[in-house]
Amino acid sequence: MNILVTGGAGYIGSHTVVELLNYNYNVVVVDNFSNSSPIVLDRIREISKKDFKFYEVDLTNKEDLEIVFKENEIDAIIHFAALKAVGESVKKPLDYYYNNILSTLYLFDLMRKYSVCKFVFSSSATVYGQPKKCPIVEDFPLSVTNPYGRSKLIIEDILRDMCFAYSSLDVAILRYFNPIGAHKSGLIGEEPDGIPNNIMPYITKVAVGKLPVLNIFGDDYDTLDGTGIRDYIHVLDLARGHVKALKKLEENPGLVTYNLGTGHGYSVLQLVNAFSRASGKKIPYTITDRRAGDVAVCYADPSKAEKELGWKANYGIDEMCQDSWRWQSKNPDGYRETAKG
Ligand code: UFG
Repeated sequence: MNILVTGGAGYIGSHTVVELLNYNYNVVVVDNFSNSSPIVLDRIREISKKDFKFYEVDLTNKEDLEIVFKENEIDAIIHFAALKAVGESVKKPLDYYYNNILSTLYLFDLMRKYSVCKFVFSSSATVYGQPKKCPIVEDFPLSVTNPYGRSKLIIEDILRDMCFAYSSLDVAILRYFNPIGAHKSGLIGEEPDGIPNNIMPYITKVAVGKLPVLNIFGDDYDTLDGTGIRDYIHVLDLARGHVKALKKLEENPGLVTYNLGTGHGYSVLQLVNAFSRASGKKIPYTITDRRAGDVAVCYADPSKAEKELGWKANYGIDEMCQDSWRWQSKNPDGYRETAKG
């Protein structure tokens, strides 16, 4: 089976490509390296000891994208490629709509033209907005608070409309909670451009001495220690979830939607402590104001994915922290150091 993976050089994309290659899928990766490095591709080959096709294409260039469909008989698409920084999306909404939505529309057009009927979409728990309670189940009301989240929700809505209109389509919408961790080899991991927005890359940069102190956004939430609670999930578990979703689409289920989370919430302070235990590094932190738009508590009910996909997160918080640390400590300058050397 030929799987087109958009954004395959990115954080979740690269781990998923490794998993697909392990399962002997033929993989075609498309990426424009807007928030990733070409070195990732070599690292994927090194880990998997397998090869795959790669196209450096910006998805907003439909002519270039069509070449990929012309040259490969694509059976299914896993669509990761997107801009994903919440704060940036508030400042540059059009960039987010143009990049995330227009590119996806082009992909949908080409899917139709080349009769590709299976599609896995990289969505996010952000589509639940400010959830009224936790754990979150898939049929909770959907709402968003920023353009990034809106771009995800709009694409979900378009997919629902398409599945209603075209009975031949099989679509899996996967709503990720908070991905952290890295491949066990320490060869691939999360490497955001600039100062990280998300907590784990921020913690690892503090641990490796690239940033002085972690700012904890509020300790006055109604939680066990006042800091925000999230459902951190190992990126390897997420990657496996995509393979399970592809298998599900082979049963022609139409549209299916799953939370990919562990079902357990950890506070920021619990995460920091777990990281210190795993790395032996003390993480200096200061408590600052709450970050606008943050919710106090967010964790999944992942039982639907377990029941219907046979998927369940395997890794606990300690192993997630160990793997994040292995990646960062082996690559203190991310992929850049290797690029120079
Ligand atoms: N946090 C800090 N300091 C930081 C960064 C984060 O204290 O420097 C806290 C946040 O306040 C929150 C927790 O750490 O309590 C997690 O924050 P992240 O930014 O890592 O993750 P979010 O839950 O805010 O966002 C993630 C994804 C988004 C997605 C969102 C909702 O990054 O893409 O989940 O599901 F939209």
